[in-house]
Order: sequence, then C-alpha cells, then structure tokens
Amino acid sequence: MITFILNNKLIQTENHKGTTLLDFIRYEEHLPGTKIGCREGDCGACTVLEGSFENNKVRYKSIVSCLTPLGNAHGKHIVTIEGINMKVLSPVQDAIVEHAGTQCGFCTPGFVMSLTGHGLTQEQSDKEKAIAAISGNICRCTGYKSIEKAAESISELLKVKDINDPVKWLVDNKYLPEYFIGIANRLNKIDVNQESSDIKYIIGGGTDLMVQKPEEIAETDISLFYHQNDLKGIEKNNDSIIIGAATNAGEIMKSSVIQEYIPDIKSHFTLISSEQIRNMGTIAGNFVNASPIGDLSVFFLALNASIILKESNNTRKIPLKDFFLDYKKLNLNKGEYINSVVLPVPTQNFFFNFEKVSKRTHLDIASVNSAIYLKLNDDIIEHCSVSAGGVSAIPKYLSKTSEYLIGKKITNGTVIKANKIIQEEISPISDVRGTADYKRLLLRQLFFAHFIKLFPKSISLNELLS
Ligand SMILES: Cc1cc2nc3c(=O)[nH]c(=O)nc-3n(C[C@H](O)[C@H](O)[C@H](O)COP(=O)(O)OP(=O)(O)OC[C@H]3O[C@@H](n4cnc5c(N)ncnc54)[C@H](O)[C@@H]3O)c2cc1C
Ligand code: FES
Ligand code: FES
Repeated sequence: MITFILNNKLIQTENHKGTTLLDFIRYEEHLPGTKIGCREGDCGACTVLEGSFENNKVRYKSIVSCLTPLGNAHGKHIVTIEGINMKVLSPVQDAIVEHAGTQCGFCTPGFVMSLTGHGLTQEQSDKEKAIAAISGNICRCTGYKSIEKAAESISELLKVKDINDPVKWLVDNKYLPEYFIGIANRLNKIDVNQESSDIKYIIGGGTDLMVQKPEEIAETDISLFYHQNDLKGIEKNNDSIIIGAATNAGEIMKSSVIQEYIPDIKSHFTLISSEQIRNMGTIAGNFVNASPIGDLSVFFLALNASIILKESNNTRKIPLKDFFLDYKKLNLNKGEYINSVVLPVPTQNFFFNFEKVSKRTHLDIASVNSAIYLKLNDDIIEHCSVSAGGVSAIPKYLSKTSEYLIGKKITNGTVIKANKIIQEEISPISDVRGTADYKRLLLRQLFFAHFIKLFPKSISLNELLS
C-alpha cells in the first residue's frame, strides 16, 4: 500500500509502485493542471512539489512527476498546481500575469510550481536563485525574458521571508493555502517503512531508469532506495566524509559538510541537469548508470572517492576508479548494491576544480567534463587526481597524467607536458556530441582551464597556447 498526501487529500493506493506519479495525478485523481510534455524530465511541464520530513519540519523541493515512481511518493506530501490554488492568485501566479509570463499556458503550472518551490527553500532569495529554480522548465511560446522578469519580481518579494519556517511565512503571506500548516501532523501518522519484495530493479531517483525502461518498471518487482533513511545523508567521520548512496545531487550541493571543503560546490553542481532532476537523481544512480559523461562520476573520481558495496551480510570497499570496467560494465556482483560513498577529507593546501562543456549551459549532458584535485607542498604538487568524461568508454580516472604531475612545480611547461600525456591516455570516439578530434581539443581546454582558474598567477593562457 502506497500512502501519501496529495494536496489536501490522503491517498492510499495499491497501484504498482513503478508506475509514474504523473499518470496517477492525471488519470486516477483527474487533476489536469500537471501537464504531460516530454515524459523524459526535460521540459518541466509536470513539475510538482515533494514535501518530506527533515529535522522535524516538512521541507519541500520541486521534482518532475513523469520520472517519479509512484512508490517514491510514499510518506510524502505531493503538491500539484491545484493544491496551491486559492480564491485569489498567489504572489507567484500574480507576478507571472503582471509580467505577461504566459501565453498558451501549457508550461505555466510547471513554472509556478518551480517558483513556489523556490519560495519554500531555506535560503534567502535573489534574482539568480529564482531564475536557477526554473532551469528545468521550458516554454515554447512566451519568451523567457518576461518569465525571468516575473522570477526577479518574485525574488524581491521573497527577500523578507522567514528562512527558518518558510511554510508558515508563505501561508501567512497567501502564497500557500492554510492546510499546509497541518501537513506535518498528518505526515507523521504515515508509517514510512515499506516492505521490499524480490528485486529485479533498484530505483533511486528514477531519472535514468524511468527514462530508459518505464514500461518494464511499471510491471516488475522493484526496490525503492529513495526512501531508505540508512542510505541517505552526509556526515563527517574522522578523516572521511560519508555520503549515503540515495543522497541526491541537490542534497550534496546544499550540504554544509561538503561546502566546507568544496566552497564552489553550488556553482559546479548548477551545471548538472536542472533543479528538479538534481532534487531526484542520486549519487549511486549516477555511478551505476555508468554513463561515460556522468558528471557525479567524474567529480567524485577526482576526489578519490571509494564506494561501499553490500550484499546480504557481505560488505566490500573499492576505489571508485576500480568500479568502471568497460562501457556500462561495472565491478558490481549480482545482488550487490552501493551502500555509501566515502571521501577522504581533503587536507590543507588542496585545490579542486570541475569543468563541463555542453551544448546548453543548463539541462544538458556534457560533451566533455573534467575534474582535478591537487595538494601542494609550497609550490610542488604532492598529490594529484585528474578525471575526465566523454573521452573514453567509461568515466575516466587519468592515472598516468595524475602520476606525472606529482612532484612537479606548477608552471606553464608542466601543464603543456601533462596535456600531452592526457592525449595519449584518452580514446574519444566521434558521436552526436562531437568528433573525436573536437573532444580531444575540448579536454585540452578544460585541463588548461583548471590551472588558469586555480593558479592565475603562475599560469597564462597565452603561454599555454604559444
Ligand atoms: C532531464 C535529465 C537531465 C540529466 N542531466 C544530467 C547531467 O547533466 N549530468 C549527469 O551526470 N546526469 C544527468 N542525467 C542523468 C541522471 O539524472 C543521473 O545519472 C542521476 O544521478 C541518476 O540517479 P537516479 O537515482 O535517478 O538513478 P535511477 O534511475 O534510480 O537508477 C540508475 C541506475 O542505478 C541503479 N541504482 C540506483 N541506486 C543504486 C544503488 N544504491 N546501488 C546499486 N544500483 C543502484 C539502478 O538500478 C539503475 O540501474 C539527467 C537525466 C535527465 C532525465
Ligand atoms: S513531462 Fe517533461 S519533464 Fe515531465
Ligand atoms: S506559455 Fe505556451 S509553452 Fe509556455
């Protein structure tokens, strides 16, 4: 039995947990405000809010309902556009009308839900954050300028919101109906433990599997990892940071533990998918998906991550770089799953950077991506790990390049020589994202960009290109 609250209504359903939340909303509950666009997470027309308990408060985030397995709604408050409608327009709806941010209206519920989700975050609002909140929403007829103006005016209104209790503030200020205040008590009464059955598929956020095999998932025994509290969260434990396998990209970028060591994590992760997909896609899902351009894989390879694999009572720990064997072939035995990801806590004098080139800045997978982690002793490289995606059959740890850089001084000559080793280490192929030669050139540029960004006093683009 899947139990959740949809808007103001308690839902108890025996529907298959692998069917989509979108279909349930539209075809079982007959709520037509949530639109069906691409069904692949790309357009945002099906955006809803998902509220769940965090530190005894209900916290909301935007998700795409087309890729959400119905079972992932268990124990949650799911909010569609109908669930925020009141007798008068909310300030978010008002701003869209005021700035002529809607024409045919097909995309509008999605934009309204994403911007309302932005209001519900525990962060002070600003224009950039409000616009970033709609990075996963596409409009085909209005034109983005008027929608951006609406987002900007909403961010001005939200500047005075109470970030400690955004739900109450938004209810008091007529962004949300009053029933939101009682949701915490109602969610508390739902037993969040679900039984697992024999498993054919493990599902995290579903942002990969629900695109690849939606029909199969809707009929097969599946295990929902998204819910499992023991697979979630980020904590520091002595010399390690442990990230639960079902932690999503949005949680990683907002984590104070991660921000302490990688202060630029937000700008790095903003390059990954969209707000909604980051709120769903898990770290383990990214690794097991094994895409050669998986952003999280490339990111965590450079950070020397290891993974903890479990199967019944057996546990093993392997470096992430040993997980990827060949194209979509993994060092993962039948019945095993990723339990957590372990990062050695970066020591002092370390430098980290992540770069990604894609056809669009947001909501696009990389043509080539790369990350670097360096530890210096004075100006000598004591440790180095470089990774790259899109240039091999797997997300690639560039072991020869990393080894070469150890013991070297940061100079233009060192970077030029290291790039020669990179070019021998990679084996890109020509495909829709570019020719092999183009990808070689892109990786060279990204590798140079690491050093130009991290060491602007020692490295100059002119020298590198001379
Ligand atoms: C619109 C869109 C944009 C995207 N943009 C990007 C992007 O910019 N960069 C990027 O890297 N990716 C992108 N992706 C891909 C995807 O979102 C990520 O790879 C995401 O991290 C997958 O995680 P998930 O939890 O949703 O995976 P799921 O679909 O739940 O699972 C993926 C695979 O992992 C397995 N799995 C999940 N958890 C575990 C576990 N704990 N142990 C063992 N196996 C497990 C599943 O069985 C499945 O085989 C995008 C996807 C969409 C739909
Ligand atoms: S229908 Fe396009 S993102 Fe869901
Ligand atoms: S208003 Fe028509 S698609 Fe956005």
